[in-house]
Amino acid sequence: MNKQEDVAAIKGKIDPHPPTHQNGFSKNGESENPLDRLNRLREESKGGGGEKRIEAQHKKGKLTARERLDVLLDEGSFREIDALVRHRSHDFGLETQRYLGDGVVTGTGKINGRSVCIFSQDFTVFGGSLSEAHAEKICKIMDLAMKIGVPVIGLNDSGGARIQEGVVSLGGYADIFLRNTLASGVIPQISAILGPCAGGAVYSPAITDFVVMADGTSYMFVTGPNVVKTVTHEEVTQEELGGAHTHASKSGVAHVVRENEIEALQSIRTMLSYMPQNNSEKAPTIDLDDPHDRLDYLLNAIVPENPNKPYDIKNVIERVVDKDSFLEIHEEFASNIVVGFARLGGESIGIVANQPASLAGVLDIDASVKGARFVRFCDCFNIPLIVFEDVPGFLPGTDQEWKGIIRHGAKLLYAFCEATVPKITVITRKAYGGAYDVMNSKHIRGDFNYAWPTAEIAVMGSKGAAEILYRKEIAEAEDPEAELARHDQEYREKFAHPYLAAERGYIDDVIEPARTRPILIEALQLLRNKQDSNPPKKHGNIPL
Ligand code: HXC
Repeated sequence: MNKQEDVAAIKGKIDPHPPTHQNGFSKNGESENPLDRLNRLREESKGGGGEKRIEAQHKKGKLTARERLDVLLDEGSFREIDALVRHRSHDFGLETQRYLGDGVVTGTGKINGRSVCIFSQDFTVFGGSLSEAHAEKICKIMDLAMKIGVPVIGLNDSGGARIQEGVVSLGGYADIFLRNTLASGVIPQISAILGPCAGGAVYSPAITDFVVMADGTSYMFVTGPNVVKTVTHEEVTQEELGGAHTHASKSGVAHVVRENEIEALQSIRTMLSYMPQNNSEKAPTIDLDDPHDRLDYLLNAIVPENPNKPYDIKNVIERVVDKDSFLEIHEEFASNIVVGFARLGGESIGIVANQPASLAGVLDIDASVKGARFVRFCDCFNIPLIVFEDVPGFLPGTDQEWKGIIRHGAKLLYAFCEATVPKITVITRKAYGGAYDVMNSKHIRGDFNYAWPTAEIAVMGSKGAAEILYRKEIAEAEDPEAELARHDQEYREKFAHPYLAAERGYIDDVIEPARTRPILIEALQLLRNKQDSNPPKKHGNIPL
């Protein structure tokens, strides 16, 4: 389905009526019966900014605020609040344009039978811009979400601060930012960007847990192309500067991008199915009818014999987890690490995996930050972590060092150290150097750490080690290459296996790859009631 067809399919569900009545009287000035008045106001509130503006919205390939709710929520579950709110502004002629709802639809609804709080900005009313009253509505629904412990979802489509209201609007944003921050780690917060999101307005979505964008119709930036041109003389389009794929692949601001709004909204439904309602609950268990004891003999041959040959870790993940349950997050960003949700034996899990098929699975700045943020989300919301490890180390070079790989790599280390959810690691191949410690090693509270027989757990790769240890011998040898190869092989035999780590108990077992699924499911079940905690503190000081 293309965007126009999507919109056509959903159009017609509402009957827009431009707001013409603003007092307690009917059109001709006579007083109305109370029920008629209520019905009239209700109808009026559903009309947004009027038919013309709704048409313009559809022409851009966008749904209206209410149509989006129809797609996102279980049918018939939406209960609106504050439909009758109007702004209180009297400047710039605003007193004659007092649309009911004031440019944002708020309320509660259900997703997969579970309650959520939601706000959906209505671009047809003052471009969805944020006024004092608009902000108050958002704050109210967020406060309710916190009180009743349910996720909050924001559908953003807004020209930013309501220009006519000035500082009052800026205050409204700050009120929202504070609530986003206080709700962080208490209830899941998801932002969909379904239109413009510019200026300081971007910081509310940025604080939330996940940002979902729709390709071609959404954009986010702190300053738009015109300001960029004035300040830096760069010519850049909206799409290049802050479109969905820019944020998915370059900045990492967007966690999920879908082809159109409908798919973007549906992805939120799927995402939520892996999450609990709040931080005191566990995510729902959903049995996907995939036998817990299923073995997969293809896994025994998935790691190539040549340690420098890549393979796709996503094949490993998909073969181990419950069928079709893997939902990748941040797919286009830092592809050398893979993160996402899945199910194992029906239980929701978070996966963090090095990807040997991209930059050999090395940890760089982006991969570290991506992994750390995901680990912290899972830990906030009691989602066990499964780590697949094949990592040659941190990426060397001035670019990474000068940009702070030390500081950023430390985030991933910190996140794994701090996490108290069940944590299981499977080392499929390389676990070298500091990266061995970082990727949920036993030393930083990994609960069960397994290795496949193909695992190589060492300070570094054998060739690099031989070059350092035998530099002099190699330089003085008649045939330096043969000498290097000899020492390389010697080091490989000594260290490129999992048995020294197993001797120390740094891994709990070396397992046949085919048996990974049943072993992980059993371990997860054992850990279901795991208790662990961190020392009391106000909060830690993660190296930001
Ligand atoms: C009031 C606004 C508005 C705003 C748009 N409208 N933005 N009204 N305040 N911020 C109104 C328009 O007047 C128009 O009204 C309707 O919304 C649709 O806008 P159009 O421009 O016709 O739509 P479009 O061509 O799609 O362009 C959308 C847009 C553009 C790119 C968002 O409207 C725009 O640039 N708006 C201003 C953006 C901006 O500078 N915002 C302030 C950013 S600073 P009618 O009546 O014709 O339908 C900020 C600070 C936040 O937000 C700080 C937080 C800490």
